[in-house]
Amino acid sequence: MEKKTNIEYLFKPRSVAVIGASQNKAKIGYRIVENIVSHGYQGAIYPVNPKGGNVLGNKIYPELSQIPGEVDLAVIAIPARFVFDAVKDCAEKGVKHLVIITSGFSEVGNTKEENKIVQFAREHGMRVLGPNIFGIYSSAVSLDATFGPGGILPGHVAIVTQSGALGIAMIGKTTAELLGLSALVSVGNKSDIDESDLLEYLAKDDATKVILLYIEGVKQGDRLVEMLKQVTRKKHVIVVKAGRSKRGAMAAASHTGSLAGTDEIFDSVMRQCGVLRAESVQEAFDWARFLADSPLPKGREAVIITNGGGIGVMTTDACEKYGVDLYDDQKTLKETFSKVMPDFGSSKNPVDLTGQATVQDYERAMEAALANDEMHAVLSLYCETALFDAEELAPVLKKEYRRYRGKKPIVLSLFGGATVESITRELRNEGIPVFSDVYDAVSCLGALYRSWRNLNAPVESAEKVEIDTGAVETILDRARAEKRRSLLANEARGMAEILGLDTPQALLATNLDEAVQAAKQIGYPVVMKIVSKDIIHKSDAGGVALDLVNKEEVVDAYQAIMRSCRSYKKDAVIQGVEVVEMVRPGVETIIGARQDGSFGPIVMFGLGGIYVEVMKDVSFRAAPISHKEANDMIAGIRSYPLLLGVRGEKRKDIDAIAKVAIKLGNLVERCRDITDIEINPLIVYDHGKGVKAVDIRVLFRNLKGGEQR
Ligand code: ACO
Repeated sequence: MEKKTNIEYLFKPRSVAVIGASQNKAKIGYRIVENIVSHGYQGAIYPVNPKGGNVLGNKIYPELSQIPGEVDLAVIAIPARFVFDAVKDCAEKGVKHLVIITSGFSEVGNTKEENKIVQFAREHGMRVLGPNIFGIYSSAVSLDATFGPGGILPGHVAIVTQSGALGIAMIGKTTAELLGLSALVSVGNKSDIDESDLLEYLAKDDATKVILLYIEGVKQGDRLVEMLKQVTRKKHVIVVKAGRSKRGAMAAASHTGSLAGTDEIFDSVMRQCGVLRAESVQEAFDWARFLADSPLPKGREAVIITNGGGIGVMTTDACEKYGVDLYDDQKTLKETFSKVMPDFGSSKNPVDLTGQATVQDYERAMEAALANDEMHAVLSLYCETALFDAEELAPVLKKEYRRYRGKKPIVLSLFGGATVESITRELRNEGIPVFSDVYDAVSCLGALYRSWRNLNAPVESAEKVEIDTGAVETILDRARAEKRRSLLANEARGMAEILGLDTPQALLATNLDEAVQAAKQIGYPVVMKIVSKDIIHKSDAGGVALDLVNKEEVVDAYQAIMRSCRSYKKDAVIQGVEVVEMVRPGVETIIGARQDGSFGPIVMFGLGGIYVEVMKDVSFRAAPISHKEANDMIAGIRSYPLLLGVRGEKRKDIDAIAKVAIKLGNLVERCRDITDIEINPLIVYDHGKGVKAVDIRVLFRNLKGGEQR
């Protein structure tokens, strides 16, 4: 396909044709024209229908070719079997973008027709949004070309959604929650334009401050990762991904026709990209609304002001959960707040004004916190009390919020009965971030802080490592010649050598004398393993002996191995035994890299042994990775403190693990035929003492260039 064209006109078309525009109010083609007209689109509207006539004051053109002016955007809402011909008409007319609403393509197996349309469109310089979508909204030209409920409010949040039905429901929800949008795009089957294209555009769109993605499955994940890493350097990006559970993932796969990636991988990669992952659409909306309006903090430390001890403690817990640091200079806290609270109050953070606080105390405390430059964000909590009415508080909160809006992040939580609830609604309707539950309030502030940390993090590019890819290919070719898809132990060790990994010393012995000599050369204790392409499960065949400490044990073990392997498989071709250095104990970890169906090359790290199988304590990153990303991946596992050294143990060689991760990431990124490489265990020693790659497993495609037989 030829070079992609800019999608500017998708968001800023000067004219829109609606193919399938209908005078019948029950039709989608009517609804789209109605939304375009009633939302006050600033460009020319050209309804198209062979019947001609007029719809909502706009002349209907029987054919696209009869439209007098240029057409930037064509919205197509006619049955699937007619779409290709309409696309041909669009090409003739010189249309720039197609928004194909129609269902009945790849999502139901009709991939051939979809591909035909996209290929034709692209050959004629048109980009395609859809098919199988509800349309597009763009505040830049007041265009609501959707068949949604209408009433979209302009604002600073761009929503990109893969689910159509949920997207339509979101329109109503954004209106109800007064969430203003800069854009709303339904991507449907993503036959051409996908999230990455849209992110590229939205990153440069001044009206968009926050991007909210609803994703079910990822295609071309490596491009998405690249785009997300760039966009999160400028804007807040929130993602809601369905398919967290195994059943949910299966439902998402059948729903969209694209396979949802493993959730753990998705989660890790989003974190790597600086994307905020929300648990639910509601949480995503809360964050989006808050982030679109809040300034960035000037520092890490927040202050909690409360009139109730209980909610203060709960908020402290929530701050720990969501990564919000609390201001802790006790002297300044005392100086700042002791004047505005009763003697039995607490100026420690949370600043507890107690249930006796008056509305004036509340106001003075808020003002003191907001005016103090060392206190970077303010969480104001109110618990209904008998002493003063929440109604008295509302004007104070409004006044303080308005005064410091845009200067300092502020979030409020009010808890109580009907009056408190009605005040909460009133404040929300004025755009003030206020929640009943303190966890919801802190979750927003936590999202702001995570995004802020990412915006301020130093930019580090992926580390390039020299790899002799020719030597890698030679090893793979030899194994391919034997029609294998995995490497034997000595071949895998050859791969480790190419990567410069430290492996246990090993020698191949073809008879007893050689085995004894090899053990002597390596030094006791040693391990002995059978080498035979006919014996894959060595232990089951009695082909492994551990911890051999002298010559006699080597002799006995050699004979025992030969005996058991011969009786296990009479006709096995035995090349000999491998005599291997018995490695010193250390922390057992697992490290690997693979080609992921969604994200392409990825690396993985976890604690080995039972931890990986039972606890599934692993973390991932999209490859290739920088040193910082490698360290973040290692620190991302729950058992990370074991590597930092517990109970007087020394810190382990985390830097050496990071180097292995970087090398494996480079390998699978450059040699795409290697589908999996896994080192299990990778023994990690104390800081400065390195790591040892004990067992290495390599799987590859048996045909070159990614083709699989
Ligand atoms: N050019 C212009 N107009 C045409 C053409 C053409 N080539 N061919 C037909 N038309 C007219 C028809 O005459 C009709 O007009 P009329 O109402 O005046 O008779 C109009 O276009 C629509 O055609 P219909 O055959 O009536 O088709 P209908 O409106 O029933 O369905 C639609 C078309 C909506 C595109 C349908 O095929 C479809 O795909 N529906 C699903 C849409 C959808 O859900 N998309 C995903 C959204 S996301 C979600 O999940 C909600």
